[in-house]
Amino acid sequence: MNMSKRYTITAALPYTNGPIHIGHLAGVYVPADIYARFKRLTGHDVLFVCGSDEHGVPITIKAKKEGVTPQDIVDKYHAIIKTSFEDFGITFDNYSRTSAKIHHDTASEFFKTLYDKHEFVEEVTEQLYDSEANQFLADRFVIGTCPKCGNEEAYGDQCENCGTSLNATDLINPKSAITGHVPTLKETKHWFLPLNKHENFLKEWILKGHKKDWKPNVYGQVKSWIDDGLRPRAVTRDLDWGIPVPIPGGEGKVLYVWFDAPIGYISATKEWAEANGKDWEPYWKDDNTKLVHFIGKDNIVFHCIIFPSMLKAEGSYILPDNVPANEFLNLEGNKLSTSKNWAVWLPDYLKDFPNQQDVLRYTLTANAPETKDNDFTWKDFQARNNNELVAIFGNFINRVVVLTNKYYNGIVPNPSEYAQVDQETLAAVKAYPSVIESSIERYRFREASQELMNLARLGNKYLADEEPWKLIKTDEARTKTIMFVALQIASALATLSEPFLPFTSEKLKNILRYAMYHNSEVISSAVETSWNDISKKDILLPSGHQIGKAELLFSKIEDKTIQEQLDKLEASKKANEAAKKTIEPQKEIITFEDFTKLDLRVGTILEAEKMPKTKKLLVLKVDTGIDTRTIVSGIAESFTPEEVVGKQVTVLVNLAPRKLRGVESEGMILMTETPEGKLVFVNPDTTVNSGLQIS
Ligand code: MF3
Ligand code: ZN
Repeated sequence: MNMSKRYTITAALPYTNGPIHIGHLAGVYVPADIYARFKRLTGHDVLFVCGSDEHGVPITIKAKKEGVTPQDIVDKYHAIIKTSFEDFGITFDNYSRTSAKIHHDTASEFFKTLYDKHEFVEEVTEQLYDSEANQFLADRFVIGTCPKCGNEEAYGDQCENCGTSLNATDLINPKSAITGHVPTLKETKHWFLPLNKHENFLKEWILKGHKKDWKPNVYGQVKSWIDDGLRPRAVTRDLDWGIPVPIPGGEGKVLYVWFDAPIGYISATKEWAEANGKDWEPYWKDDNTKLVHFIGKDNIVFHCIIFPSMLKAEGSYILPDNVPANEFLNLEGNKLSTSKNWAVWLPDYLKDFPNQQDVLRYTLTANAPETKDNDFTWKDFQARNNNELVAIFGNFINRVVVLTNKYYNGIVPNPSEYAQVDQETLAAVKAYPSVIESSIERYRFREASQELMNLARLGNKYLADEEPWKLIKTDEARTKTIMFVALQIASALATLSEPFLPFTSEKLKNILRYAMYHNSEVISSAVETSWNDISKKDILLPSGHQIGKAELLFSKIEDKTIQEQLDKLEASKKANEAAKKTIEPQKEIITFEDFTKLDLRVGTILEAEKMPKTKKLLVLKVDTGIDTRTIVSGIAESFTPEEVVGKQVTVLVNLAPRKLRGVESEGMILMTETPEGKLVFVNPDTTVNSGLQIS
């Protein structure tokens, strides 16, 4: 059943313009790591690669903003990202970067191969150009309305709202992200990958092939794109940050970031192979290798349509077996946002919660956005820790280890005859590896993590029902059997938890003296049990085996700790609101004569009612001192009629009357609007006579 197979597992290369946050972790890196660890543990040949995606417009924009070079930006964040992944226990076999020479060479060569095979269409077309910045506008340099869903903030290569991949010229009302100007069109030559040419292959491969077992969100998106018809996509850009286009006529141009980045998986493999004296090719060219791409949903088109078309056009590569893309994770009800600092950053988490990597791994897995967008809340994080990791898993292990030490000096006792409950319990334990395996095989990591917790639950319940702490006084033989069974469960947990809770698994193996670890390396293995052994072996931890002393696996997280995190987020929210209070630039200069034309008076609102069938308008009767007149005002979203009656306001009384919804408005009342869009009266504290002039 478990024939050893070769796996090439990739995790989306993160853009190197900021640290990793929980959205990245939940969507891509935690599930990919669980999968890679699981495949290694079940005896497969696994290569798990990733690296920094260091080209592309966001990095250039960030560099410009900070007044440094793009290379400065990527050097800084590559180091931060790489270290935080390591500290979090993500077990890449290689974490590379796309500015590495080996990647430039690999991507250039790939491009040249396609060029030589006439797989590109070379065409001079009109592209968006910002004449003020003297620059072509592609990808994130241009923002406009998505022709498909109407999102007004779609980028030149993709709409993040509906996922559609776009050409910059598709955008309605495009605007330069550099200067804010409306772009003009300018001719330029580029190389296009004719996706239309690959349509039939994609249909065969995805729609008619066996890809029905792909996740419905992935399959559905891909199907709708193919059904809509595919068009050629430019794979080169007029930019200066990236991999130079390696053919005649390509001077001054670079490869499109989404052309080079996925090739980064291949470069990372080559780099790893070179460093380890291996052959990289079987990992990409052997039909028996299973290629799996872990990505977020905004990357689906690139991994299911564009990259496979590139690989197919090249001709010697395998295609992905599966692309288990996740949906998005929100934070406390709001979309994660790097620019708004609405995120939990991995380096911050590692600092604030030292040695608690598994708590976050578990929370993100148990609540992973696998089939729909999901919400991370600090309360849920606390509850998962306190009610599951501490109260179930930790509690069970602690009881087993403490009692074994107390009753038998830490030596696994000899069981006598098994009761029915013991037999049932041991049989149930044996079923867990395949139950968890079947969830993982279907990329249902949350389900898998819950099955793991169910095994701990089983252990907890077994002890609670059998109560060895009572029996020890009356039935020593039975107590030994119970403790023996409980120790077998503990030892199954030590192995089965490894993909999900690797730090805990290691700690538990040390406690059970099951295998001894030092810096994540096994230094001695007493009774090391493999994943597959659990369902086969009758005894995992033999009688006479000496275990170690109890150590807490998890500790309770207090309200205060959670509050500190919530306060941090609150501070981000405040900072964003303050940043939004951008002061409007001053208007055109007017003369003193212009000013004196305005007749501003203090008015008192006498009556107010809502204008029927409108949301915003109130019809006011205002005492201006001169007369009582009707003024229609757009303040109904901020005030009820009752609230404004009796209030004094500044009135522009000599504004030409105009009709609003059939009611003549004779003047205007002046108010101010807060950054949150709420209107406020600006003269709240004194009451004066209506009609006084304001000057
Ligand atoms: N940097 C991209 C993102 O964060 C992902 C690149 S994945 C790769 O959305 F395939 F290009 F490597
Ligand atoms: Zn859209």
